[in-house]
Amino acid sequence: MGIVKLMVFGVLAWCVVCQAENIDTTSANVYMVTLKQAPTVFSVKKNYHKQNRVNKTSYDFVSIHSSSGGATTLENPSFSNITSKHRHFGSRISRVHDSLLRRVLKGEKYMKLYSYHYLINGFAVLVTPQQAQKLLGRKEVANVVLDYSVRTATTHTPQFLGLPQGAWPQEGGYETAGEGVVIGLIDTGIDPTHVSFADGLSGNSYPVPEHFTGICEVTRDFPSGSCNRKLIGARHFAASAITRGIFNATQDYASPFDGDGHGTHTASIAAGNHGIPVIVAGHHFGNASGMAPRSHIAVYKALYKSFGGFAADVVAAIDQAAQDGVDIISLSITPNRRPPGIATYFNPIDMALLSAFKTGIFVVQAAGNTGPSPKSVSSFSPWIFTVGAATHDRIYSNSILLGNNITIPGVGLAPGTNESYNLVSATDAVIDSETPKDDYLSECQDAGSLNQTVVQGNLLICSYSIKFVLGQSTISNAIQTARNLSAAGIVFTMDPFIIGFQLNPVPMSLPGIIIPSSNDSKILLQYYNSSSERDPVSKKIIKFGAVACVAGGVEANFSNSAPKVMYYSARGPDPEDNFLQDADVLKPNLVAPGNSIWAAWSSGGTDSVEFLGEDFAMMSGTSMAAPHVAGLAALIKRKFPSFSPSAIGSALSTTASLHDKDGGPIMAQRAYANPDLNQSPATPFDMGSGFVNATAALDPGLILDVGYEDYMSFLCGINGSAPVVLNYTGTNCGATVVNGADLNLPSITIAKLNQTRAIQRLVTNIAGNETYRVGWTAPYGVSMKVTPAHFFIANGEKQVLNVVLNSTLNNNVASFGRIGLFGDKSHVVNIHVSVVVKIAYNTTSS
Ligand SMILES: *[C@@H]1O[C@H](CO)[C@@H](O)[C@H](O)[C@H]1NC(C)=O
Ligand SMILES: *[C@@H]1O[C@H](CO)[C@@H](O)[C@H](O)[C@H]1NC(C)=O
Ligand SMILES: *[C@@H]1O[C@H](CO)[C@@H](O)[C@H](O)[C@H]1NC(C)=O
Ligand SMILES: *[C@@H]1O[C@H](CO)[C@@H](O)[C@H](O)[C@H]1NC(C)=O
Ligand SMILES: *[C@@H]1O[C@H](CO)[C@@H](O)[C@H](O)[C@H]1NC(C)=O
Ligand SMILES: *[C@@H]1O[C@H](CO)[C@@H](O)[C@H](O)[C@H]1NC(C)=O
Ligand SMILES: *[C@@H]1O[C@H](CO)[C@@H](O)[C@H](O)[C@H]1NC(C)=O
Ligand SMILES: *[C@@H]1O[C@H](CO)[C@@H](O)[C@H](O)[C@H]1NC(C)=O
Ligand SMILES: *[C@@H]1O[C@H](CO)[C@@H](O)[C@H](O)[C@H]1NC(C)=O
Ligand SMILES: *[C@@H]1O[C@H](CO)[C@@H](O)[C@H](O)[C@H]1NC(C)=O
Ligand SMILES: *[C@@H]1O[C@H](CO)[C@@H](O)[C@H](O)[C@H]1NC(C)=O
Ligand SMILES: *[C@@H]1O[C@H](CO)[C@@H](O)[C@H](O)[C@H]1NC(C)=O
Repeated sequence: MGIVKLMVFGVLAWCVVCQAENIDTTSANVYMVTLKQAPTVFSVKKNYHKQNRVNKTSYDFVSIHSSSGGATTLENPSFSNITSKHRHFGSRISRVHDSLLRRVLKGEKYMKLYSYHYLINGFAVLVTPQQAQKLLGRKEVANVVLDYSVRTATTHTPQFLGLPQGAWPQEGGYETAGEGVVIGLIDTGIDPTHVSFADGLSGNSYPVPEHFTGICEVTRDFPSGSCNRKLIGARHFAASAITRGIFNATQDYASPFDGDGHGTHTASIAAGNHGIPVIVAGHHFGNASGMAPRSHIAVYKALYKSFGGFAADVVAAIDQAAQDGVDIISLSITPNRRPPGIATYFNPIDMALLSAFKTGIFVVQAAGNTGPSPKSVSSFSPWIFTVGAATHDRIYSNSILLGNNITIPGVGLAPGTNESYNLVSATDAVIDSETPKDDYLSECQDAGSLNQTVVQGNLLICSYSIKFVLGQSTISNAIQTARNLSAAGIVFTMDPFIIGFQLNPVPMSLPGIIIPSSNDSKILLQYYNSSSERDPVSKKIIKFGAVACVAGGVEANFSNSAPKVMYYSARGPDPEDNFLQDADVLKPNLVAPGNSIWAAWSSGGTDSVEFLGEDFAMMSGTSMAAPHVAGLAALIKRKFPSFSPSAIGSALSTTASLHDKDGGPIMAQRAYANPDLNQSPATPFDMGSGFVNATAALDPGLILDVGYEDYMSFLCGINGSAPVVLNYTGTNCGATVVNGADLNLPSITIAKLNQTRAIQRLVTNIAGNETYRVGWTAPYGVSMKVTPAHFFIANGEKQVLNVVLNSTLNNNVASFGRIGLFGDKSHVVNIHVSVVVKIAYNTTSS
């Protein structure tokens, strides 16, 4: 009933393919071309997009890449009307693009991949560098950018974030938490059959929000009916990847289906169903829930297992998501490196996201996993909410007690042995015909080469080598081997060549442990060798004397030193357009749980070999942190539907927690090797405003808002940016330019304090009448004053805060302070102050 089926531009696409076959692909590349004319979202009358969203982009390529899996049709789970009027805008702009290409590249070969029209007016095209130059020379063309690559950057987290007692009750319980809000995920797709995305689990009605007009692709591996009232949109974008010939239909699926696992994982973190039991390798690890269990999910697949992704496809995905009417976009992806050749903020992805901001979409992005060095953030624009990764308090630890009473810590979601068993190294259990030195044997990948008589009933020692890191050897193969030989359990020692490798807990279906430290591994092997008796001639062991008992790691422990910023979480300060300068904008914005996160896993997910075929996986990264915040933003959006994206970001930032469970400062790991020995209190460049506090974010008291025009003035304030701004946005930079420090952000960042600086912040009261007291601590080397010292603010009213900062000594490293607004109705609003004092006040007087 009422299913809308469309064949997508079949004839047009066929012509495009004809052209492609003749293109000299050795010199041709994908370029993203932006035109000066405004995109649909800005050129149609105000609020047009809110009421009548344009429903169909001209993605000429859609039917080509899906042709491998049969014809693609699209179905609309919300059964709303697709009218020709709405399609009209998109196809008109697409025709303008085609006509421009025909005129500029008359008689030449090229292939247009996408027309973007909603958030940016432009297209992606396969052309030679000479053709790209020709396009750049046209007066209607704003910019031509070479396409670039991008990459992918629980059961217990709802409790740790206080959702069951704090945030969910404010929304009427988990049964309704986040209802009516649509979260769009730009990721590796989704497994629609996963119970975390099942419809109507709790029975009551759960309609698709009216403002959402997205559709679901229907292909063989994403059949009709894959979408429901939970998963309400699903598309995939792969034209740039296909053009490069690296799209592998077997692994990557020409459909929204997730062949990786990452997208299924992040989607369920944001909005997976509540109360889904997590059973992996036969163990029950508790029940999982998304942060906003009643929010809707719309999936825009633009990342792939075998190669990552490309900006041209990501921009197409973002453009479609905005058009469809998502409320929040979650990007667990970052560029592989800063976009080349153009100013940082002016790359097509960030420009599209600025337009998305203008339409009221809250955009969350992973900070990147390139920490802990300074300036490592790959998400930098102030209109994007950048999230770093912290631990949460649940830890799975395992240990092994050796016969000499030494206990060695390790990981492994495995049962224990309860009693001591003999240790037998695989290298000492090789059958007579094999050469014992073969690495493959020590890695226990092949039962056939080990002697069952020697191994059975004992703990088998296997070597965890670089091949495991590369996926060439697997823990599950080794476990198979141990089972085959009837071993009592399995112990992995770390190869000495792997230094400081951080291993996630791995599920194991028989007793066992992985020792992540190569030093600890050496201790175990020394004990093993010194306890064993070898034949002096053959060197074969004649008596195995070492014994050990594995404690087991299936039970979770709860740590008080959480949260803690993970070593891999990318750090500020935020670099400006040229590499040398720091921007006056705080990045990251916040940290959220990102380490060892249990969430849904795709049945076709091959990204983590340890979780192959499992329904859930434990993953770590800023990729996992971003969807936590996307889900919490959905809760805020439901409670405060009129909040702008900046207001949502402000609510999350000013209420963030600054302390760990023990009440001490949140720590930040500062080294890849032995990170817990190399840590110190986190600064705003490590954790932004702090660790997300969901309860407090739903009742922020005051908010600091920033508008689209402010960001335009900010872009105009960047040295030499005026022509770029004009080209990209059609706006002439006027007299009003705004420095990053003067944006009304919920933080103050000054990369260079020359003597003195006056800053203002404007707060708006979204709660009841309240009287606030103002307190502050000045950064080192700075004297600071904030006025007024206290103020009464009625509901809906605004109040200016004046901040004066004077440098008192020359200090080339960043120092940090904070302004705290303490309401008599118990609201606390924190504004972090980060300053580098470049010029000392008293040394510059002449
Ligand atoms: C679709 O459009 C038709 C004609 O404009 C209208 O009668 C009908 O109610 C619409 N259906 C929906 C589901 O909006
Ligand atoms: C595509 O992926 C499959 C499955 O992983 C693999 O067997 C095949 O070799 C790949 N094809 C190419 C061309 O890489
Ligand atoms: C987990 O979910 C199962 C099935 O949905 C339910 O029976 C059980 O009570 C839940 N356990 C917890 C701790 O919520
Ligand atoms: C190990 O410790 C236990 C109890 O603490 C003790 O009885 C035993 O003698 C110790 N064994 C060795 C080898 O030190
Ligand atoms: C260890 O003991 C527990 C509880 O007594 C039991 O359930 C488990 O099967 C035992 N494990 C082994 C490997 O014997
Ligand atoms: C296996 O080990 C036993 C005991 O050490 C030995 O007798 C036998 O020859 C070995 N078998 C092979 C195939 O190596
Ligand atoms: C162990 O593996 C061998 C071959 O590697 C196989 O023939 C045998 O059936 C396996 N035994 C068990 C118990 O799995
Ligand atoms: C989070 O905020 C709530 C409400 O303001 C507060 O009671 C709680 O202590 C905060 N939690 C943390 C960890 O700071
Ligand atoms: C702006 O566009 C003009 C005309 O297309 C071009 O010549 C110029 O290089 C562009 N400037 C920048 C900074 O991109
Ligand atoms: C600092 O300010 C003084 C006067 O306000 C100016 O002369 C000087 O160039 C500034 N120094 C820097 C490094 O900006
Ligand atoms: C900053 O310096 C100005 C003049 O140099 C002075 O009037 C003001 O009181 C100082 N403010 C602070 C907070 O030190
Ligand atoms: C809040 O303050 C305003 C302005 O002072 C006042 O008119 C209003 O009555 C107050 N509301 C409450 C509930 O106290």
